[in-house]
Amino acid sequence: MKNIAIVTGASSGMGRRFALTLKNHASYDEVWVIARSGDKLAALQEKIPFPVRPIALDLTSPEAAPRLQQLLQQEQPRVKLLINGAGYGIFDRVETTGYADSMGMLDLNCRALTVLTLLCLPYLDAGSEIINIASVAAFQPIPCINIYGATKAYVLSFSRALNRELKSRKIRVFAVCPFWTKTGFFDRAIRDGSDPVVKKYAAMYTAEFVVQYAWNKLEKTGRDYCIPGAMAKLQVLGVKLLPHSLVMSIWQRQQKLK
Ligand SMILES: NC(=O)c1ccc[n+]([C@@H]2O[C@H](COP(=O)([O-])OP(=O)(O)OC[C@H]3O[C@@H](n4cnc5c(N)ncnc54)[C@H](OP(=O)(O)O)[C@@H]3O)[C@@H](O)[C@H]2O)c1
Repeated sequence: MKNIAIVTGASSGMGRRFALTLKNHASYDEVWVIARSGDKLAALQEKIPFPVRPIALDLTSPEAAPRLQQLLQQEQPRVKLLINGAGYGIFDRVETTGYADSMGMLDLNCRALTVLTLLCLPYLDAGSEIINIASVAAFQPIPCINIYGATKAYVLSFSRALNRELKSRKIRVFAVCPFWTKTGFFDRAIRDGSDPVVKKYAAMYTAEFVVQYAWNKLEKTGRDYCIPGAMAKLQVLGVKLLPHSLVMSIWQRQQKLK
């Protein structure tokens, strides 16, 4: 039986960085990398020191779940690590985000992550790990990044409670809550030609920093989530201490949003 790692969102940003640094964490017979850009996934074959299986797939499409289920049934692997890194956000008001992207964020950030988890559950065993990329957005309601923030609240809550549920099977679930991180995320999040929602970025981390931080915390602490970076931690502390109505007013004032 093969020991495998599955990484979604492996073509770019933090998912890609996780895939490239897997060898610092453990050894795998095969790494399944998933995203829409098949060429970028194929290029990982030269960079990851394990056999790589590129799976070019739109995780929001109806064929995604049956295809992955079929692959798992066929291969009967032991899934030692599942990283749910695929996700996206749109910075816009709910009324102008549009139906496709509003549902798209829910479908990718919440539904696909949950589907992947459910499909992998029978193939996880003691010592297996699930890493879900949430966000500091998970801790607060965010006007004009509303649906995205809400999807990340789901990811954090789902991950932490699942970690408890799977404890008896010795399976760890760990959520990573990054602050702004320099990746392709912003190419999709920021709408061309519109007045930008985010005018001030209090800090911008790198995928290298966030992922290294996450690996360290996963290995050295028993926690179920991590918040990489001092600015990120400071923000979450403030959000936990202050009433959320005040947190939203500060955000709207800081970004000049109505
Ligand atoms: N960057 C930030 O500031 C930030 C902060 C907090 C949390 N996050 C979260 O971190 C995670 C990783 O994002 P990132 O910053 O690394 O952004 P990124 O560079 O844009 O990576 C997103 C990944 O998701 C994949 N993806 C997008 N749509 C997909 C779909 N329909 N089906 C399958 N895969 C899809 C993309 O690949 P393809 O385009 O090839 O499909 C890409 O590999 C996301 O969940 C994001 O919400 C980001």
